[in-house]
Amino acid sequence: MDTSSLDELTAAGGMDMTNRLQQNAVDLQRELDWFARVLDTRFKLYFGQECEYSSVFDVTPPLLDDSESPYAEFVKQFGPSFAERVALVLSLVPHVKPKLLDIFFTRNNTFDRRFTEFGGLHEATGEFLPTGETLVFVLAADDLQTRFETFQMFEAAHYFATHNILRLEEQSDSASLKAPLRISEDLLLRITTGQSKRPNFSANFPARFIETPLTWDDLVLHPGTRRQVGEIETWLQHGDTLLNEWGMAGKLRPGYRSLFYGPPGTGKTMTACLLGKATNRDVYRVDLSMVISKYIGETEKNLGKVFDQAQRKDWILFFDEADALFGKRTETQSSHDRFANQEVAFLLQRIEVFDGIAILASNQKENIDQAFARRFESVIHFPLPRPQERLLLWQQGFSPSAKLSEDIDLQAIAEEFALSGGSIMNVIRYASLESLKNGDGVVSKQDLLNGIRQEFHKEGRLP
Ligand SMILES: Nc1ncnc2c1ncn2[C@@H]1O[C@H](COP(=O)(O)OP(=O)(O)OP(=O)(O)O)[C@@H](O)[C@H]1O
Ligand SMILES: [Mg+2]
Repeated sequence: MDTSSLDELTAAGGMDMTNRLQQNAVDLQRELDWFARVLDTRFKLYFGQECEYSSVFDVTPPLLDDSESPYAEFVKQFGPSFAERVALVLSLVPHVKPKLLDIFFTRNNTFDRRFTEFGGLHEATGEFLPTGETLVFVLAADDLQTRFETFQMFEAAHYFATHNILRLEEQSDSASLKAPLRISEDLLLRITTGQSKRPNFSANFPARFIETPLTWDDLVLHPGTRRQVGEIETWLQHGDTLLNEWGMAGKLRPGYRSLFYGPPGTGKTMTACLLGKATNRDVYRVDLSMVISKYIGETEKNLGKVFDQAQRKDWILFFDEADALFGKRTETQSSHDRFANQEVAFLLQRIEVFDGIAILASNQKENIDQAFARRFESVIHFPLPRPQERLLLWQQGFSPSAKLSEDIDLQAIAEEFALSGGSIMNVIRYASLESLKNGDGVVSKQDLLNGIRQEFHKEGRLP
């Protein structure tokens, strides 16, 4: 289970949340008890004391199959091996129960100094910080095979790294088992509080979390558009099964790319948010016009971070102002354009191999050439609403508390004024505020018409 669905579960209900956290505390405690037994066993075996186990690997970890706590969900998601589970708990202990590690302060009486074989760093706070060597000691003492297996846990391709779970803190040289074990902040938060933290927008991380309080019922689309949006939803719900259980991963391109095009205010952003909401995924918006014009040079690295996180956390990436990608792929004039071209090439390539879902939104189609369109699993037109859709937008748009003056004929207004959903909502906001200002809460026909005139004016059109 990914972090976003955890958020969703968390948000599902106050009572649920409390139960899940209580269960989580129980699960963590059982896990720590198990770990304490593992440690005890290692020390007894190492110092040749009597012990009920002949290997630490015989100390069975708790079964978490029936639990739905954040910790249990995590274990079920990744199915760590015994050694991996020890590594995880060892990295977790300093944050939840540092005392458990006091045993590592045992001194070597023969030489009156610490045991080098325990590894670990002794913090100024008096606490023990486990390192890769500590892990090797707990698992193997002096077994070389296990030592090598431990190394593998920290390789770049291991899920500890690819899913941002656990790593050896970077040292000046390459990763060494002498480096402290670092559980990711993300995971720590998730398995201790059930929450996950969303990264903030910055020049370093040029993407912004977006969401909507609205539901599918609020979305009014041309039936053809709605059907195509439904296809993305189907992919989000069943794509995983198709690729993995049905074994199609080798035959189909990973991920899913869709291009939304249409005039402003036709629901492109709203649809992206609803797809996320319906499938428990976070949606992050990247403003391409800004990314391409402002962050020359650093852009690749920063966008790379967005793609990496998105892939790990199963986000939907929403690239707005995708027009910035078109046009610019031709000849170059200035050095600025050459940079822009590099960025565009990089972006297109990343989007093409992206293993998640990417939605690109644009206001124009003329610019999109065939070669470009072929990169997408779907290209969806968001047209301006027709009169029947506009009527629905007017009917559903007002607050249930608003009263419409009797001379307002929404049917006639819907037929007469060719406005987008976004513009209709602007008019509704304006007219509703006017009615509140006037104190009677009744929306007058005049306010409605004034609001409509303003919208046309904004777009430089005549009503
Ligand atoms: N099809 C629609 N159904 C219901 N509401 C809509 C629709 N289109 C727009 N709206 C309303 O207008 C607001 C703005 O729409 P949205 O931001 O999704 O437009 P957009 O297509 O992304 O526009 P832009 O191209 O300017 O980014 C929505 O939050 C919603 O309130
Ligand atoms: Mg938009």
